Amino acid sequence: MKGVILAAGKGTRLYPITRHIAKPLLPIANRPTLHYAFDRLREVGIEDICLVVGENEAQMMDALGDGSSLGIRLTYVRQAEPKGLAHAVSFAKEFVGSDSFCLYLGDAMYSDSLAPFARRYEESGCANLNLVKWVPDPSRFGVANLDGERIVKLVEKPSVPESNYAMAGLYFFGPQIWSVLPGLQPSERGEFEITDAIQTLINQGQTVLAGVYEGAWFDTGTLDSFLETTAHLIGEDQLVAEDAHVLGGVGHSVVIGAGAHVSCGVIENSVVLPGSHIRVGGHIRRCILAGRVEADGDLEDQIRWGDSSQ
Ligand code: G1P
Repeated sequence: MKGVILAAGKGTRLYPITRHIAKPLLPIANRPTLHYAFDRLREVGIEDICLVVGENEAQMMDALGDGSSLGIRLTYVRQAEPKGLAHAVSFAKEFVGSDSFCLYLGDAMYSDSLAPFARRYEESGCANLNLVKWVPDPSRFGVANLDGERIVKLVEKPSVPESNYAMAGLYFFGPQIWSVLPGLQPSERGEFEITDAIQTLINQGQTVLAGVYEGAWFDTGTLDSFLETTAHLIGEDQLVAEDAHVLGGVGHSVVIGAGAHVSCGVIENSVVLPGSHIRVGGHIRRCILAGRVEADGDLEDQIRWGDSSQ
């Protein structure tokens, strides 16, 4: 089985930092976001991975190369324009060939192994198996109606969800998907939806299964979710690089990267990227900071890069 990771997004919800660092490379607990995806794929025996990239292509290739230093083989394909997940997947067709593949949304992070789902996909012989997770607020997601293990209906971001099972950003596909993609029409939000592709498989009478995921699932794409993911990884601890200089109190769930200088009252639940110079008169709470940041009072709920003035 091969891996396809969709990593073309601009990470706009983490601007301005993601104007400078491609979102998939942004360190979470001092490791590039994508490294966590590589771990999960390697764990199920996937070493051949296609990265679908966008404008970030050069930076991604620079940082990750051919993947050999990470124990994987990376192939890059470029999605010409961002037109949705199903559109992005179509660029990986040649790479996947006649194999099956695991599709991983680059922003996602999973606390638990994917191995039981890869196994179930293989042994079932189904056309497609998708991770789903029970969530209290399914309207933000693709929503799956289940009949036992089977998915019988899928709706993308329904205003009135018929179930609490959200599509959790991780999909196993066989070659059946390739014949479906060219016939898709753009959705109301103007995108070619992977949800619509899977619904077409269901309509064709193919076996489409759900794997209910009980672990923690994070979408690392917003300030809140980025900090929540960090806190999940390091708990209440402080991850302060040895050569970082910190003048001030360090509270819970703080990451300070290599070579960073931080001077403030107390810093908590925040991330300072490597090489940054931060001078804040008050406290720092729930921030991601990079470059040279100066402020007199408290800094809360902020994403700052360099001298970006607020
Ligand atoms: C996409 C999918 C959706 C899925 C979600 C998981 O949504 O379209 O079905 O539940 O990822 O993160 P998007 O992030 O494009 O809004």
